[in-house]
Amino acid sequence: MRDLYLDDPVRLRETDSSDMLGAIYGLPDQLPAALAYTRTQGVRLRTEGLLQIVITGLGGSAAGGDLLRGYAAAACKVPIFVNRQYELPAFVGPATCVIAVSYSGNTEETLAAYEEARARGAQTVVITGGGELLRLAERDSVPHVVVPTGLQPRAALGYLFVPALLMLADSGLIPEVDEELSETVEVLHRLRGLLAPDTPTAHNPAKQIACHLHGKIPVIHSTAGLTEAAAYRWKTQINENANSPAYAHVYPELNHNEIVGFDVPGAALELIRVITLRARDLHPRIGKRIEITTQELLGPCNGVEVRAEGESPLAQLFSLLYVGEYLSAYLGLSYGIDPTPVQKIEQLKRRLAEG
Ligand code: PA5
Repeated sequence: MRDLYLDDPVRLRETDSSDMLGAIYGLPDQLPAALAYTRTQGVRLRTEGLLQIVITGLGGSAAGGDLLRGYAAAACKVPIFVNRQYELPAFVGPATCVIAVSYSGNTEETLAAYEEARARGAQTVVITGGGELLRLAERDSVPHVVVPTGLQPRAALGYLFVPALLMLADSGLIPEVDEELSETVEVLHRLRGLLAPDTPTAHNPAKQIACHLHGKIPVIHSTAGLTEAAAYRWKTQINENANSPAYAHVYPELNHNEIVGFDVPGAALELIRVITLRARDLHPRIGKRIEITTQELLGPCNGVEVRAEGESPLAQLFSLLYVGEYLSAYLGLSYGIDPTPVQKIEQLKRRLAEG
């Protein structure tokens, strides 16, 4: 395996100058912390006459919405949608609950969607670290959960996800989640011993995958439903932490289009590596599809498979996602990139603010 300096603690510390690895290490601890402050702040949804839930947010603040939809869709009494734009879907009205999420509280698309939700008479709830969204929620007496600040939005995933999860569970829209959350924290604590920087590449699956993906364009395959949100998170974390392109697609849909693309002549395929994320208890036909696709159809692009740990769906989802958190930071560091700054996002926001 190539030496990409991932086992050199001095070099890692110097390059990771804003300590993204420290933030990733802290993710498991965000879950119980968020459970405590959400219950203290005690936001309940009104469920009478409720027909839909819409989580509106962007980027790191929308990621918790994806997880919630992936995890809760099968059990939730009403459908869950994730909205990532200024406008809300036409169905949003008094029978909808709109949960507006923004870590900074200043994301213009989310602020516009919040105002639209209010104007349409939707039940509105806010999860934020502060900013304009908190000011509006206080002005409008909208129930809100304030989360701890000081991180990059994408590094605050637990802080942003758990409040939304508990809003659904504590309102009776999904079964209670406390046991699954405990198991998730246990699994993540165990995993971080394996994935953290102190564990050398020879024993560290996240560092090994970073070496495997170094110089390649990652394509993350997963299955529709639970693992889809984890795969999309891998993609966006690779984008932001490793400054690299990355793409995600899901079974069985990818069997109906994307696989044909792994035949392009020329050098393009040499650049692509597919990582497959796999939960337990797959539909047997999906298991068969993964086997045929990875062994027979992806050719040299086939990479490695990452299997979920834990029993409960929530633990499995977070276990897959957590490997991607570490891998994306290691991949960035292997390129000599500090995983924290997101200069292009900031540049774009500055340009838009000019009017
Ligand atoms: O990772 C990031 O910094 C972005 O994806 C942000 O989350 C996104 O721009 C939205 O900002 P916020 O999360 O503060 O609403």
